[in-house]
Amino acid sequence: MSKCQCNPDVFQIKTKAEDFFHSLPEGHVIYTLMTEHFKIREFIDELEQIITKLMPLESINDHRELLTRLEFLARHISSTRRHYIREEITLIQRLEILGIRDPAIEIRQQHDVMSVEKQRMSNLIHQFYVTPFTDFKDSLRDVSLQLITDLRNHIDIEDTVLYPQLIENIKSEEEWAEIKAECDRIGYNCFTPFKN
Ligand SMILES: [Fe+2]
Ligand SMILES: [Fe+2]
Repeated sequence: MSKCQCNPDVFQIKTKAEDFFHSLPEGHVIYTLMTEHFKIREFIDELEQIITKLMPLESINDHRELLTRLEFLARHISSTRRHYIREEITLIQRLEILGIRDPAIEIRQQHDVMSVEKQRMSNLIHQFYVTPFTDFKDSLRDVSLQLITDLRNHIDIEDTVLYPQLIENIKSEEEWAEIKAECDRIGYNCFTPFKN
């Protein structure tokens, strides 16, 4: 169904919470969110490699493929809105109702900060042809490296603190089924494994 070439059914497990991930049944809400994190990690790892390749170049002329890839990665990294909405509306709100605010409030703030960073990165890439190449490289490096650092930190907090906290505090299978239905209504990303 999806036209996207982001290989959604293949993912490499890369998390500080590997045992926790393996303890989840396939298709569980948290399992799906974690597989999305694996894909986001792949995107930001590649973004980091591209920035490293771009820095010594004087011009993009012989390396157009880097620009194409950069556009692809920025588009996917920026398209995580539904992932955030699922986290905020279906999960974080439930923790807040239970009176658990740490790290829920921090997570919300990080979503907001990273949304701005993603927008800045996308804007920069869209302005490639009207920006001197040296300025483009420097600005892209600054905004992307900050976003990469923030995203890695954010994913680590969710995988190792927020998600285990949810599993610990929401025990009812019926409630998880309700959360899953809410997530299905919100929708998934083109890079969500098994959802396209
Ligand atoms: Fe998040
Ligand atoms: Fe997340």
